[in-house]
Amino acid sequence: MTAVTESTDPTSTELAWGRHYAVVEPTHFRIDYAINPFMDPDVQPDPARASDQWQALVGTLRGLGARVDVLAQREDAPDMVYAMNLGLGLVRPGGDPHVVMSHMRYPQRRMETGSAQQWFAGRGWTTSYVGREGVGAHLEAGDAFAFGDALVVGYGPRTEELALKHLALELGVRVRGLRLTHPGMYHLDLAFCPLDSRRALVCPAALDAPSARALMELVPEPLVLTEQEALTTFAANSIVVGRTVVMPACPTRVRAQLESWGFEVVVVEVSEFHKGGGSVRCLTNPLDITLGRDLPVLARGEVITPLE
Ligand code: ARG
Repeated sequence: MTAVTESTDPTSTELAWGRHYAVVEPTHFRIDYAINPFMDPDVQPDPARASDQWQALVGTLRGLGARVDVLAQREDAPDMVYAMNLGLGLVRPGGDPHVVMSHMRYPQRRMETGSAQQWFAGRGWTTSYVGREGVGAHLEAGDAFAFGDALVVGYGPRTEELALKHLALELGVRVRGLRLTHPGMYHLDLAFCPLDSRRALVCPAALDAPSARALMELVPEPLVLTEQEALTTFAANSIVVGRTVVMPACPTRVRAQLESWGFEVVVVEVSEFHKGGGSVRCLTNPLDITLGRDLPVLARGEVITPLE
């Protein structure tokens, strides 16, 4: 039993981002192939239930005051509902939004990028690539989150280490790389969720030993999830709107800690989407992470990866 830690540091501040999201309406959500251990084409989602769960999630976010923009799903892209992976959007210090498009590890998802690029470009976003159509570094945006002094990027199963250098140089940020080694936590967002300036949900079991240590050093007040909790509840795949944590499930112990820190927990059921290996975070892509506010700007960028 881990004791609940009372709030000790008054300097912990709310995340300024997480109030604007892109989502993809699940009109063609299916399990056509298996590119992660959760997927089984013999276990298909129920379209009506999936649609209801997705509507309820979007309604919850809007009810919390978040802006939610909806993309249409391509019929040939059954995984496109996991909008988090379309690209890494960042607002530049002058206010110009830029998105680094994902270059999916698996060809089955690569067609999503073309539609997403057009959608962003049509809304005034500049767009770029670290690799595309199988050439160059893979990058999946569910691996990248602003936290503390850096863009924290998971690499290994999906994003390649080379992508970290591209991101650092192109965006002018410090990138802290963490090596994912757990087959079931193939994106960082299955093992890490920033909560505020000092706190995050973390599952070090997703990482190799040096990266697990680095993650624990990075987060002043970590809320540690066990491997079992992360894999069976998808609790790390949550999002935060102000002081509200929107979660697919919340183990009692986790809820007690979050509430003692002053967060409100809202649980939304997205079980149909767990069949594809994704949950609340995977279904939403934050569009308001701002350089200079949420991430320090460094002229030429920098990459820090843990030493073996
Ligand atoms: N079936 C999708 C895939 O394997 C799930 C993506 C989950 N998304 C996420 N951000 N973790 O690519």
